[in-house]
Amino acid sequence: MKIGILGAGTMGSGIAQVAAQNEHETILVDVSQEALNKAEDDLNKILNRLVEKDRISSDDKINIQGRITYTTDMADFKGCSLVIEAIVEKLEVKHKVFSKMESIVSTECILASNTSSLSIASIGSALKNPDRILGIHFFNPAPLMPLVEIIPAVQTSEKTLKTAKNLIDSWGKSTVVCKDTPGFIVNRVARPFYGEALRIYEEGIADFATIDWAMTELGDFRMGPFTLMDYIGNDVNYAVTESVFAAFYYDPRFKPSFTQRRHSEAGYLGRKSGRGYFDYGEGAIQPEPNKDPILGQKILDRILAMLINEAFDAVFMQVASSEDIDKAMTKGVNYPKGLLVWADEIGLKKVFNQLETLFYEYGEDRYRPNPLLRRKVNS
Ligand code: NAI
Repeated sequence: MKIGILGAGTMGSGIAQVAAQNEHETILVDVSQEALNKAEDDLNKILNRLVEKDRISSDDKINIQGRITYTTDMADFKGCSLVIEAIVEKLEVKHKVFSKMESIVSTECILASNTSSLSIASIGSALKNPDRILGIHFFNPAPLMPLVEIIPAVQTSEKTLKTAKNLIDSWGKSTVVCKDTPGFIVNRVARPFYGEALRIYEEGIADFATIDWAMTELGDFRMGPFTLMDYIGNDVNYAVTESVFAAFYYDPRFKPSFTQRRHSEAGYLGRKSGRGYFDYGEGAIQPEPNKDPILGQKILDRILAMLINEAFDAVFMQVASSEDIDKAMTKGVNYPKGLLVWADEIGLKKVFNQLETLFYEYGEDRYRPNPLLRRKVNS
């Protein structure tokens, strides 16, 4: 089966590697020859490392490379059964390329987008035959992250959904199916991990190092929120928060933070700029956390309650099944446990009381407990 990928940047080149490793003839198209050359060079380096580590043989390497065609000509998508688009996040540009792709491929070909923030319905509106559109959302780096969110739009046919899901499952990925709503599962449910951590800092309850310590040491998260935001990039993380906030018609639950905005504005972007919430310069001394267990538990309980509330909201609003929401957070952002399973372990009443207390204390809509959580506690 021939697979097309449009866009040879961070995501497109990773997805092309996944397709080629799964024995597909793969066509990687980009407008920029430079991007194609870089993708080819990067893949060569990645595969060399895999050979060195004995994860693949030299023959495998040659075969994988041989399956990918790097080209600037979209006409080479002819004969593809699936094309995944991973170009700039601009709707007008996506419309143009989807409409062009439709004129090249057969009516059977599925056309997918890897978009993080645009609706699949809006992208599909450019097609004459929109029942073949859907979202196939990989996580970065695509070859390593197991999660793929599969997003049918209002226009998507059952056949398109089933065929695409079966294919991505056959690549050994963990797929979850979710509604075409802002942030899909992961980028929606994970918002409080950053937002509530920033809020706790802004209120002067604890500093960055202490909040990170509480979440990693007491909560078992692989990275604390501030270390993770520095890793993702404050500019990127802030942009996602802003777009989710706007897409939810400015629901205060998703309100972005001044602290993050100021860090972005100052150029404190994180690891990539040498400084974010922490200093990554040579010889920089890292601040010591306050390891007060009572304070730590308070921080963890508050952020976790907000995350669980968001997971409940996603179930309540039928974004995805409980199982898929838990799978998405463990496989897409490495949470130590699924949030809904975790909620049961803590006790729903305890989580609910924590949210009610915050809601009462602050009087802010941001802390309102989800109706499904309330119903379960009262049943
Ligand atoms: P990128 O900036 O690394 O790569 C985009 C590539 O698309 C560039 O090589 C550019 O030359 C090419 N391009 C632009 N316009 C084109 C056109 N008209 N025709 C063909 N090629 C064109 O972007 P990245 O980060 O790979 O993101 C791509 C998509 O994936 C976006 O929709 C983004 O929202 C989504 N995404 C990004 C993630 C990330 O962590 N970077 C994670 C998941 C999804």
